[in-house]
Amino acid sequence: TSLHFVTLLGSLRKASFNAAVARALPDLAPEGVMVSPLGSIRDFPHYDADEQDKGFPAPVLQMAEQIAAADGLIIVTPEYNYSVPGTLKNAIDWLSRLSPQPLAGKPVAIQTASPGMIGGARAQYHLRQSLVFLDAFVLNRPEVMIGQCAQKINPDTLELTDAGTREFLTRQMGALAVLARKLRS
Ligand code: FNR
Repeated sequence: TSLHFVTLLGSLRKASFNAAVARALPDLAPEGVMVSPLGSIRDFPHYDADEQDKGFPAPVLQMAEQIAAADGLIIVTPEYNYSVPGTLKNAIDWLSRLSPQPLAGKPVAIQTASPGMIGGARAQYHLRQSLVFLDAFVLNRPEVMIGQCAQKINPDTLELTDAGTREFLTRQMGALAVLARKLRS
C-alpha cells in the first residue's frame, strides 16, 4: 500500500534553504511514497490560551486535519540560536492543544539545513523533546542534518543539487516509510 507524507517548514524566508530541501522531497520519495507540503505557519497567530478559548484559528485546524490524515510528517527547519525557531515552536504549541492531538502516534522525521557546519543538530534535539511530550514516534535514524547547505543548493534556482544529500533524503524517507508501516500494522 502507498503512503502519504506531509512536510512542515520551519522557515518563512523566501529564499529559504530549508524550503529548498522540502521542495526536493516529492521527487526524491521512495517507491510507494507520496510527499506534499502543508500550509505555511506564517498565518498562525501567537499562541494565546484566551484566543484558543474563543476557537482555534482556521490555519491551525486545517494543518491539524492534514497531519491527522497523513501517514507521516517530515519537519524541515532551520536552527535558530541553537534551538527551534520560535515560529515553528508556536505552531507546535497551537497543534498540541487540539483534541484529538494530531501528532499523537504520528511517525515524524526531522530534517535541518544550515550554512554552518553542524547542520542544525542542536535544534533537532530540542524539537525531539517537544515531540516526545506530544507522543509522536520520531524516527531515530538516519538523522538528516545538512551542513554547509549553501554549497549544496544552487543560489539562483534554489534547487538542492548535491547528489549525496539527495540520496540521503531518499534513504531517510525510506526509513520513515518502514516505521509508518510498522506502526500501522
Ligand atoms: C541563525 N542561524 C543559525 N544557524 C545555525 O546553524 N545555528 C544557529 O543557532 C543559528 N542561529 C540563527 C538565529 C537566527 C535568529 C537566524 C536568523 C539565523 C543561521 C541560519 O542557519 C541561516 O540563516 C539559514 O539560512 C536559515 O534557514 P533558511 O531560512 O535558509 O531555511
